This record gives sequence, C-alpha cells and structure tokens, in this order.
Amino acid sequence: MAKTPLSVTAVDLTAEQQALLVEGVDAWQTNDLADKGVRRLFITDGPHGVRKVRAAAGSFAIGDNETSTAFPPAVTVASSWNPDNAFAMGEAIGREARAAGVDVILGPGVNIKRSPLCGRNFEYFSEDPLVSGVLGSAFVRGIQSVGVGASVKHFAANSNENYRFVGDSVVDERALREIYLRAFERIVSEARPETVMCSYNRINGVYASQNAPLLTGILREEWGFDGLVMTDWGATVDRVAGILAGCDLEMPGQVAHNRRELLDSAASDPRVADALARSAGRVLDLVAKHPESQPEQAAFQLADHEELSEQIAREGAVLMANDGALPLAPTTEGLVVVGELFEHMRFQGAGSSLITPPYVVSPRQAFDRRGVGYRYAPGYSAFDGTATPQLRDEAVAATAGAETVLFFGGLTDFEESEGFDRTHLRLGAAQLELLETILDAGARVVLVLFAGAVVELPMADRLAAVLNMNLPGMRGGEATAALLFGEANPSGKLAESWVRRVEDSSPFADYNRSARAEYYESVYVGYRFHDAAGTDLAYPFGHGLSYTSYEYSELKVTVDAGTVTAQLNVTNTGAVDGDEVVQLYVGSRSSAVFMTAKELRGFARVHVPAGATRAVTIEFPLAELSYWDVAHGGWVLENGEYEVMAAASASDIRLRAPLRVTGHATSRSPYPSAVDAAYASPPREVPAAFEALLGAPVVDDYDARRLTMNTRLGDARATLLGRLVARAIIGTVAKDYRAALALPPSLERDAQVKNTYFVLRMMPNSVLRSMAMSSAGAFPYELAEALSLLATGHPIRAIGAFRAWRARRKESA
Ligand code: BGC
Repeated sequence: MAKTPLSVTAVDLTAEQQALLVEGVDAWQTNDLADKGVRRLFITDGPHGVRKVRAAAGSFAIGDNETSTAFPPAVTVASSWNPDNAFAMGEAIGREARAAGVDVILGPGVNIKRSPLCGRNFEYFSEDPLVSGVLGSAFVRGIQSVGVGASVKHFAANSNENYRFVGDSVVDERALREIYLRAFERIVSEARPETVMCSYNRINGVYASQNAPLLTGILREEWGFDGLVMTDWGATVDRVAGILAGCDLEMPGQVAHNRRELLDSAASDPRVADALARSAGRVLDLVAKHPESQPEQAAFQLADHEELSEQIAREGAVLMANDGALPLAPTTEGLVVVGELFEHMRFQGAGSSLITPPYVVSPRQAFDRRGVGYRYAPGYSAFDGTATPQLRDEAVAATAGAETVLFFGGLTDFEESEGFDRTHLRLGAAQLELLETILDAGARVVLVLFAGAVVELPMADRLAAVLNMNLPGMRGGEATAALLFGEANPSGKLAESWVRRVEDSSPFADYNRSARAEYYESVYVGYRFHDAAGTDLAYPFGHGLSYTSYEYSELKVTVDAGTVTAQLNVTNTGAVDGDEVVQLYVGSRSSAVFMTAKELRGFARVHVPAGATRAVTIEFPLAELSYWDVAHGGWVLENGEYEVMAAASASDIRLRAPLRVTGHATSRSPYPSAVDAAYASPPREVPAAFEALLGAPVVDDYDARRLTMNTRLGDARATLLGRLVARAIIGTVAKDYRAALALPPSLERDAQVKNTYFVLRMMPNSVLRSMAMSSAGAFPYELAEALSLLATGHPIRAIGAFRAWRARRKESA
C-alpha cells in the first residue's frame, strides 16, 4: 500500500503523545493527534466479514452490528482448497470495510488446529501449515489489494480456548518452526500484512504480548516484518515489557495503569523511551497507509459479494460419503426432510467473528424456490439442539415408510464457539437419538451437516450419504440445494482429519488437562500423527468425494534451479464435470532424524470436464523439504532419498515417484538418543524424554487455587474469598443471560441469548487482569488488583490498591 508521508514523525512528539498513539480508544480505534494531523484508525473484526458494531449498541456488543456480507468461515474456505476464493473474499471484505470507514480487518486466523476439540477451529483454516499459509496469504493479499490492512492472528501457538488468557503452550522449537509458525512465516514473506495480532497465551513461559524472541527476533529480524504488532483485545500483561519486546499497539487501550507505567519507565530508562518512540513510529506508518478519514463511496455491488459467498460455500462443501443416494432428482417422490437446521441453518460460528448479514437463505427457501416437493418435520430445535417429545414424535411419524430422508444435523452455538472448548465431539443428544431411531426404522438417510469442526458419526456406516456443508455463510441454503440436486458437483475436501473417536486425536493425552499445554506430540499433528499411528479414521485429511471419479497418471518429478516440479495427468472418468483437489505430499525415506511419513508440499484444484484429461503442474522450492535443526537453530536440507506422492487424500495415494537430494547436508540427528527413541513413532502420552526434546525443564507456575490477577475465575474456587469474588463477577454476566432468556421469542432474542451465553461460558476461563485490560477503562486495573489482593489474603495491600483506584477516579473526574 502506498504511503502518504505524514508531516510528523515520532521524534516530533512528546512521550505523552507517543504513549497515546500506542494504545487504542473506544474499543476499535487508535488515538488521533488532531493538532499534528494524525487521524484515528478504525480497526475491527474479521475474519469472514466486516463486523462493525452499531454505534447505538455500544463499543463491545457482539451481535448488534451493521449489516455486511457473511462469508463462509475459514473452515469452509479451506475445504475449497482454492486460494482464489480466499483472495476474492478478502478483496470483497476489503471493499465493504472501506465503505464502512474501516482501515484494518482483524483476520485471517491462521492458528493450527491442534485438537478437534478447540472451540474456535471453525475460524481457522487447517491442521496443516501449508494450507493455512497459502489460503491465509491469499486472503491478506485480497484485503490489502483494495487498500485495507489485514491483521494476521493469533501469533502464536494459540490452540485452545479454555486456557486462552493464561495457558502456556510448551512447544519444542522444531514443532514451533515447522508447524505452528510456518503459516505466519509464509504470510509475512508472501503477503506482507500491515499488522500482526499477538495471542493471549504464553509460549514456553513467556506471554506472546511481551515475547521478544517471537515479536522481534523471529518476526522482524528473521522474517523481515516491517508492519505493526498489536495485542489481542486484553492480551497485555506487563505493558513496559510488551513495548520492549516489540508489541507496538495495545488494544483496546484506555488502561490508565499501563499508560502511567509506560511513561514512568520511559522517563527513567532510555531503552523504554526508544522502544516507545519506535512503536509510536510504527503507528504513524500505519496511519500514513490510510490517509482517508471518510468512508469511501461503495464501489461494488453487494449482490456480487453475496453471490461470491454462495460460490465459496458450494466449492467448500465436502461430500464425505455417498452410496449413490446423491444427487437427488428434484422430483424425488416421497422426500422427507427432518431437522430444524433445514429452516434455520447455522451459517457461521459464535464469538467475536459473528457477522450480521442483511438476510440468510435457508435450505428450505432454496428447496421452495426450486419447487421441490417434500414433507418436513423440525425434530429438534436448531437454536439450542433440544427436542420436546412432541417434536421428536412428529419427526418419527413423518419418516414412517419414507424412502429417502434428508436429515439436517449439526452443532449449535452452545456447543461450538470462541471462548470455550468442546468437551466431546458428539452431535447433540436429541439429534443423535432421532437419527438413530429413523435409521432403525430402515429409512435411507442422507445426512446434511452444518458444523464448524469434526463431529463423531458413529452411525456413519448406516448412512446413505453425508454432505458436509461446514458453515456455509449467508447463502448456504442455495449452495446446499445446488449440491443435493446435482446442479453443482461437490468438490471440496477436508482440511483436517476426522477421527472416529476423540481419543484418537493427536494431542489427546494433554489437551486441556491444565494451563500448561504440553505439545508432547511435537511435529506429529493431524495426519502427520495418524499416518504413523495407523489411526482408523472416519475421514482422512484431504478426503472428499464427487459425483464423478478421477484417475491419476504419469507422475513426473524434476528438480531444476532449486525448484521441484511435479507433473501428472488427471482424467475425469465419470459423466459429470467436476473439480479435483490434487495433493502433493513428500516424505523423507533416509533421514537419521525422526520424520513424519509425509508432508503436504503443494496442491491444486483443477476443473476437469467429464471424460477429459487435464495436465496438472505443482511446483515448490526444494528448500521446503528442510527440517528445523535444533542444534544449528536453522533449516537444514538433508541429502538422501525422498518420495513424492500425488494423492486424492492423505490416505489415498495414487502415484509415487522417487526424489534424490544431493549436495546438501548429511543427515544426522541433533537429539539425544532418548528423544530419538521416544519420537521414532508418535507418542501416545507425554514421554519422559519431552524435556530433553524441549531442551528445558517444564515449569508449572500457574496458581490455580488463589484468585491472582492471572487465575481463571473458574479455578479460584479453592479459597472462600476467591470464590465470592468469582461468583459476584460471573453472577453479573449470568444476570444478562437470564434477562435475554426472558425476552419474547424473536431473532433478536436468539442473538442476545447466544451472545450473553458466549460471555457467560467464557467467564470461568477469564482472568481479572485480562478483564481489566480489555474493558477500555470500565473495570480499572487498580480495582482488579484490589480484588485479587483481597482474595489472596492481603487485606492491607488491597486497601492500598482500593485507595489508589479511588484517587485515580477523583483525578479523572
Ligand atoms: C479475539 C480476537 C478478536 C478480538 C476483537 C478477541 O477476543 O480473540 O480474535 O479479533 O477479540 O474482537
């Protein structure tokens, strides 16, 4: 983005002015310096649409937004395996952002899906860093192509919600580099995002918001990032340490305590003064990229964006199983539809990414538009997944004698959301029971699924077909109908492994057991784990069927000037046109270091008309075969034998070709033999050699009993005072939830209930520090500190903190 030089630089500013620049104001803006000609920037969510809170709703309201196109979330975009979709969507969101006067969009979310239980997986692309990196990069390029900034989040190793404010992601250096940082690295170097958002959690003991090796050493010095780093909302711990580490902008800001600490330290420590000036300079640089202060006249047709959202939903849907039941003829006799998601489709996930579209097209509306005849029974409530006996009985009666039943199933916002993780992968009890009952009666059942992440389908073998729409955005109903009736051919593939049982997931022995997340599985994440563990998967990574079939032939692999080129032919052997997602994996066959069996190195989505053959070329730099050598602290390309695999999924390798690497490094393990032995195959529990792998002891310094500033409210129940304080805080939020429940039935009520529930469920995971840091001054830091001191048995110091709070209140009054 071209910069318009400002007439002011950081050195022209006083420390007070710099301190104002490096914090936000009013939840979504940066501070202006009007007399210096520095305007304020508007920064907002993201990622699958523009979520701009309506002014009347107050700064932080989640569900009361100005309307904008609700695109499918990342899970669906990733399942399309089409970077053009990510680019086009970013571009469209960028245009809507400009029209709404928004300068920076908070997205994409490119964290790796470490466990299928993570409540926020719908907002992330994949378990694989290449898919996340390629799609994230295209999305950033799309947004920034129209002059809006992107904020790549959440940097880094942020893989759960339950411990999001205090968790420590204990990750070995190699897994960090090869898996958790790799998508960020690709995006930073390919797409040059204007900003990066650091995550809430700690990485190997140090909070991301003050992690100098991460924010400065790796991000800026190694990768050459020259943009701005901002905190996630309320992620600040120690603001001075943050500035020193390279965390420029504190959001949402207005924490008087932080500003004071920063100014005091800057006055006495030249290193802090320099760092403050540098960060203020980066805010000025960002402002210079966005000189307009007025919303731009809309230069697009909303209808085009809505159409694009539908196209991505179509391309991102995954046909997981099909015995020939699909496609349906629109004239199918005796079609029975069960499941209220048919009428009230879940089209996006819950939390800060919640978009308010101008309208939603449900599958029912799309069926009716086509004049399809059907009998329909809701069976359960799409809102909360419950069923009354009457709803259930009516559905069972409706399916009596039916030949084909379309069962619309999926998750609710009460089960899958930002703010908390799932405790299991099952469908809701009412849906499960109803589905089993209908299957027991002998009907042929097609399951149409709306969920942002993996669900266990124990009845899968009895289903005639499974069409996974993921979360399809505002026009998902149209996309669903088009695919079910064969107007479009499902061609998406899964970007994450679908386990049969949660126990089979790669980090199961550790996930959400405590604040300390031990990433003991190292590089064995997702299919990298299942390959070696031989997991009996429900549906593997990269899996997706179609109404046609493809044959792969003639794989040729060449290496020239550091680029590997794989060429092959794909023939559509069926009767309908379709797109095939070809995956290229490579595995080392001779390394002395522990290696996964294969890693995705490239992919291509190609359109192949019925009966036609298309040549496919996939290229990648040979250097990408390097692994992270902990002895060297660098990437090492090993000599030896590699195998290149062209595949239809991680479990469906169609063609293989050898690749020999010479002239680079001789393979040798940098690890002690105990590590080599423990990691020769993926560990099923935290191995004794985990600390040797880390090269450091695992430290547990989370105080789960007493209500410190960094103890989750839900944990602090061990002490009476902690319990009382936690109960009082949670009680306030619970009141809002009850008030929402008491509203008369309406869409407005549903939104209120969902949003207050999201906050209520997140509350036990929240900590006083982050609540103070994210409240934009409404919950002052000193008050939080006083409560914490009281709850941890320091009444005298608590009185001191109360006094400080009162004095500051007076001062600002
Ligand atoms: C989320 C971010 C989001 C921010 C602003 C945070 O709680 O983690 O993803 O952009 O809130 O809504």
